[in-house]
Amino acid sequence: MARSDLLVNLVKAGVRGDMADVRSTAEAIAADERAKKHTGVAERIVHALETVQPTGRNGHAQPLPRVRDGTGGIQRSEPRRSINELYLDPTSRGACDELIEEQRRADVLRAHGLEPRHRVLLAGPPGNGKTSLAEAIAYELALPLFTVRYEAVVTSYLGETAQRLRRLFDFVRTEPCVLFFDEFDAIGKERGDIHETGEIKRVVTTLLLQLDDLPSYCVLVGATNHPELLDRAAWRRFELRLKLDAPSEKQVISYFSECLKELGGQAGYTAKRLCEAVQPSSYSEAEEFFLDVRRRLALGQGSRELRSVLDDRVRAFAARRYMPVEGVTHGRSTNSSVS
Ligand SMILES: Nc1ncnc2c1ncn2[C@@H]1O[C@H](COP(=O)(O)OP(=O)(O)OP(=O)(O)O)[C@@H](O)[C@H]1O
Ligand SMILES: [Mg+2]
Repeated sequence: MARSDLLVNLVKAGVRGDMADVRSTAEAIAADERAKKHTGVAERIVHALETVQPTGRNGHAQPLPRVRDGTGGIQRSEPRRSINELYLDPTSRGACDELIEEQRRADVLRAHGLEPRHRVLLAGPPGNGKTSLAEAIAYELALPLFTVRYEAVVTSYLGETAQRLRRLFDFVRTEPCVLFFDEFDAIGKERGDIHETGEIKRVVTTLLLQLDDLPSYCVLVGATNHPELLDRAAWRRFELRLKLDAPSEKQVISYFSECLKELGGQAGYTAKRLCEAVQPSSYSEAEEFFLDVRRRLALGQGSRELRSVLDDRVRAFAARRYMPVEGVTHGRSTNSSVS
């Protein structure tokens, strides 16, 4: 049986004669039924949407408008990166595996009157896998990745942002997906901030209501570099909160040792020595270092030795360290839970 709030919405939209709303709610019901493995019902609903023509005031058949997000606020992409390609500490990896299992075996949970978890917050300094992990979760669940484009949602007009957010979630509900809110603090920030206007409070309140209403077949992944800025009520809504920290020395060594193995040849460096020489402040920097090495080797077309390329790149990276970037530190920790 479809969720009662969706049925009530369908009735309201029908009475109002709002055909766009009828379609989006009917598609949400179909997605809900499909998630419960009631494929027959889901297909009958979709078939009805495709074939039955509503009759307009003039008695002529009118096509039902297709659901679009209407705001341009969603960028859809097909995920390509698997979770095994990411270096995650055991706590974060374990939590992700649990989430993926709950989603994959949601029918077993539902048979016991339970819902899978579906709201994840990823926090941590730049370049340590928040965006990559959102993509990997979508990949593992074989779902499309919907990334929210704030520039299309947030406007300076009073009330408009909250309305756009509602429309965006109406669209999202029509299909199982991973919905990715990057820089979640931009929209879910603390309502108590004295500098904020009533507008931001209204936006956060709308966001919280939409988060509560999001069906469990839509997995929400929020990412933030500033978890301390989040509204506490928004924070509470995330059933999983993971911290993706900068890699520890041990983690960099294991990352580098894997990369050196892939390159083969006489490196002249152990992974440990390379780690001390490069001191990457994030996985992204570690990745960049090896991409650079590969570029030099490829352009050398076999004329350059791995050892001399590594020497060059180590020097280049050491020179880069003298250009400090705000917010990036070389401090490392291995904590993995934010809560
Ligand atoms: N844990 C990781 N394991 C392997 N590669 C990683 C990891 N974290 C980051 N990378 C690599 O670094 C690059 C940047 O990572 P990503 O965009 O996911 O970081 P982010 O945490 O979202 O950063 P930002 O806060 O700047 O958005 C990616 O190309 C990815 O391949
Ligand atoms: Mg990111």
